[in-house]
Amino acid sequence: MSTDTSTPTSPAEGQAAANTRKVFIKTYGCQMNVYDSVRMGDALANEGYVPTEEMEEADLILLNTCHIREKAAEKVYSALGRLRDMKQARHAVGRELMVGVTGCVAQAEGEEILRRAPVVDVVIGPQTYHRLPDALRRARDGQRVIDTDYAVEDKFEYLPVTDKARIRSRGVTSFLTVQEGCDKFCTFCVVPYTRGSEVSRPVHQILNEARQLVEGGVREITLLGQNVNAWRAEGPDGREWSLGDLLYQLAEIPGLARLRYTTSHPRDMDDRLIEAHRDLRSLMPYLHLPVQSGSDRILKSMNRRHTAADYLLLIDRIRQVRPDIALSGDFIVGFPGETDRDFEDTLRIVEQVNYAQAFSFKYSIRPGTPGADMADQVPEDVKAQRLERLQALLLKQQAEFAKSCVGKVIDLLLEKPGRNEGQVIGRSPWLQSVNVDAKTSQIGDIIPVRIIGTGPNSLFAEPAQDLVGT
Ligand code: 5AD
Ligand code: SF4
Repeated sequence: MSTDTSTPTSPAEGQAAANTRKVFIKTYGCQMNVYDSVRMGDALANEGYVPTEEMEEADLILLNTCHIREKAAEKVYSALGRLRDMKQARHAVGRELMVGVTGCVAQAEGEEILRRAPVVDVVIGPQTYHRLPDALRRARDGQRVIDTDYAVEDKFEYLPVTDKARIRSRGVTSFLTVQEGCDKFCTFCVVPYTRGSEVSRPVHQILNEARQLVEGGVREITLLGQNVNAWRAEGPDGREWSLGDLLYQLAEIPGLARLRYTTSHPRDMDDRLIEAHRDLRSLMPYLHLPVQSGSDRILKSMNRRHTAADYLLLIDRIRQVRPDIALSGDFIVGFPGETDRDFEDTLRIVEQVNYAQAFSFKYSIRPGTPGADMADQVPEDVKAQRLERLQALLLKQQAEFAKSCVGKVIDLLLEKPGRNEGQVIGRSPWLQSVNVDAKTSQIGDIIPVRIIGTGPNSLFAEPAQDLVGT
């Protein structure tokens, strides 16, 4: 899943002195980048930086970049071109502007960024965010700093723990990275090269962070990892724990009402994780489980190491233990060698699974990945036609899923003020946005509501206190 968001980290709690520096962080890409931006914001807050949502006000601008699909690097260079003009204008009036590039383009491009974009002061890869404050200090002394090592120390041990007020200001849902990197080497994907090999955070770190989030008012935590269900670590009982075990433990934290995790690989959906879906009421009935293609030939060439039938069987097993589970997926059309027939197989698997939500992309050549060197690259117009057909089908399923919710009474986690006075936007168990009449003082509560209608990107509901207890 990909979004472009600017991530305000938190309001300036008590430290907005006139001489404090302001930081603007622009976040591209996946949820992990959103989480990373928050953690970088925390590290900078300890250095006296306060976040701003206005780029013009910022003394430091960070672009936290994504490299997953085409033109990512070019987009960053053109953004940097605009920043160059801004920096020149600032210098003309004697004001400082520092510019940093972080994230996956920083990792992939490295030195090239310093060479092509003189405006950049620091380039920091995803594994060295804890060194950002130090890099900025060196940059202020006039150095241009690049740090894209795979740090030997654990960055999470060094990233500062934030305070309750700051957590509270971010809302009642939170991401928590438990795993990073990927050893799967799907032939289309750049992630093993930008995020490195699979690393799992230790149990105690995850539990501590989760408890802190809950103390700061968080009710729902989404565990993140490029391959989140490949998470493995030694448990307090000395056994090797898998993600299922971790979820059972997290479910014990009082006040933590909801758990989710993303993104999973079908090969790592083990029995314990499926049992967790059966047993844990706080584990939400929503699973993002990308299959990418419905053709066994293409799945093989993508190095997915499972067949379409394996995937369908897995979905059956999960649905048996949690019949109300909503499925979401990712798809790539036009992978090298994909024929019309292969594409029909993809449409068929979509029909068979019936997704509540999905993301679909045209295959995009990533230099350095095996897919880039494969013969039979699919022409752009064919990719575009296939994407259009697939998206029409997926949108139809998404709309049908939304309609099937109408009339149901569901638990709604009230998340943020709605567009109109007296309205609040909540999150359904199936990750839908739901508008309901409620007071903003109720944000953080989970209330029963009846779904009464659907909009283009959200649902409408009315309170249903009479029917279910909170
Ligand atoms: N081209 C198109 N889509 C891609 N994805 C990953 N790499 C590529 C690529 N080279 C998609 C996959 C993945 C999602 C995060 O992005 O579907 O699951
Ligand atoms: Fe993009 Fe992947 Fe990096 Fe996330 S991990 S920012 S999706 S390249």
